[in-house]
Amino acid sequence: MDPADPANPLAPRAPTHNAVDFDALWTLGAALMADGPVVTAEEVDEVAEDHGVPRAHAWMALSYAPNVQVERTADIAVAVCCARCQLWGAGDLVADLLALRDARTAAGRLSFDLVPRGCLNRCSDAPVATGVLDDGVVGFVNATAAQVTELLDAVEAEAADA
Ligand code: FES
Repeated sequence: MDPADPANPLAPRAPTHNAVDFDALWTLGAALMADGPVVTAEEVDEVAEDHGVPRAHAWMALSYAPNVQVERTADIAVAVCCARCQLWGAGDLVADLLALRDARTAAGRLSFDLVPRGCLNRCSDAPVATGVLDDGVVGFVNATAAQVTELLDAVEAEAADA
């Protein structure tokens, strides 16, 4: 069914963004697999640099490289759907979250690992992300970096009060 068709129960909104060229993502995914099975965040960034593409593209390609994991460095993970949610801004969200992660890490604030994924099953509310904490999972629909910031600030404040 046409994704712009209002009768489409999975995405009853017209797309707002274009998807990244699939062949390009596949090529990036293959490069990541060659570096895998575990890669550092810096190695993901290097793949983007080597291919002359925006940093977010190499991160998005991780969702097409199931044999590759990014080395975990934080207690909190934020998974982002990089499947059809691309049509509603998942690529911009990945770029925003990378910038947020870097800024918080540089400032010594509570940060997170970014984990690109396939469909997270809330397609009609794209873009979709989840925050995975030790004690639960938080879902973000129409997800933004501001929502993730709010979660991190709340966890940080709770830890300070404990
Ligand atoms: S395609 Fe993104 S949640 Fe399903």
